[in-house]
Amino acid sequence: MRKLLTTTALIALALAGATAGARAADVKEVQMLHWWTSGGEAAALNVLKQDLAKEGYAWKDVPVAGGGGDAAMTALKAMVAAGNYPTASQMLGYTVLDYAQAGVMGDLTETAKKEGWDKAVPEALQKFSVYNGKWVAVPVNVHSVNWLWINKAVMDKIGGKQPKTFDDLIALLDKAKAAGVTPLALGGQNWQEATMFDSIVMSTGGPEFYKKAMNDLDEDSLKSDTMKKSFDNLAKIVKYVDPNFSGRDWNLATAMVIKGDALVQVMGDWAKGEFVAAKKKPGTDYLCYRFPGTEGSVIYNSDMFGMFNVPADRKSAQVALATATLSKSFQSAFNVVKGSVPARTDVPDTAFDECGKMGMANLKAANADGKLVGSLAQGYGAPPAIANAYKDVVSKFVHGQIKTSDEAVQQLVQAIDDAK
Ligand code: BGC
Repeated sequence: MRKLLTTTALIALALAGATAGARAADVKEVQMLHWWTSGGEAAALNVLKQDLAKEGYAWKDVPVAGGGGDAAMTALKAMVAAGNYPTASQMLGYTVLDYAQAGVMGDLTETAKKEGWDKAVPEALQKFSVYNGKWVAVPVNVHSVNWLWINKAVMDKIGGKQPKTFDDLIALLDKAKAAGVTPLALGGQNWQEATMFDSIVMSTGGPEFYKKAMNDLDEDSLKSDTMKKSFDNLAKIVKYVDPNFSGRDWNLATAMVIKGDALVQVMGDWAKGEFVAAKKKPGTDYLCYRFPGTEGSVIYNSDMFGMFNVPADRKSAQVALATATLSKSFQSAFNVVKGSVPARTDVPDTAFDECGKMGMANLKAANADGKLVGSLAQGYGAPPAIANAYKDVVSKFVHGQIKTSDEAVQQLVQAIDDAK
């Protein structure tokens, strides 16, 4: 009996030791919340999963569908409120700063120093990934929203050419309509409508106006005739959607262009990820042009991986994720698939197709010329409450709940004011 007790005690002790050992050891798993659920997005995310698997990290996926990330951000809020922090979460600009201010983000500064991120990541992105001198997020990419994605065969069929002005674009849409093709592929969800409106505002008022109205929230600009004209232009362009556009997901709108059921989609370059996934080639199957009147400017957003203040045993996985994300090889491989461009300035464009090369060159030039501005629809113009107010007003206008441009401007000013 005595011997048995001793043996049992020894086993118990050994087990306790093993448990303690396991607790102290690093958890080899990355838990990631994101909204990358379309074909192109999933393919891009696979590049990351595979890189981490090679280093021995398991991937715990927390996908929350819904382009633009509104549903994902609701899910994140609930997780954080419950103290259940993911290793990282996909986030846009001002959302990172909100969480950093709430004191729930981790600190990757040591890794940043070791890896030289300060020198490689552009200033515009560091404004959102560094908070009070600490690296709290890592940028994965730079997307831009002022693009047209056009089906080449439809373009040839209607004898269209690159539109240089907003009026040219309307004339092109008319040609598609006359040929019996849906001219504009749009998903009637507020974030898609507002993402398109970002480009319309830039095209109508130019980069200086865009910056004043959409980043500085200057009231005179918001209620100006230029803003009214922007809404007039929005009213003109939405006449070219098909009757089933309400509620459609963005990637289904892209699929309409890929299949030749529609001529053009106005969307961020995540749309290009869908063309890549469908094995379509720029110049042959599709065309990428800047939204007319916005050439030379880039309205950007960047997917950040916000790094939460996870328990000590999950930190090494977080460091591995952050290091892999900002490595040069990953930045090239991932962004080729995603449709975006690298978040580092020192990645060669060799692996990118002609649209990607153009995106990289445009970003560099716009940055040098002071024409790189944040997308209000995509979290880089103003904090989330204001961006949501903007999306709401634009969407009400598109769906006829706000009837005139005058009324739209009034409501926009009011809604932004209330959200401040
Ligand atoms: C993100 C992209 C994503 C798109 C559609 C944007 O907010 O920045 O990475 O592909 O939403 O889901």
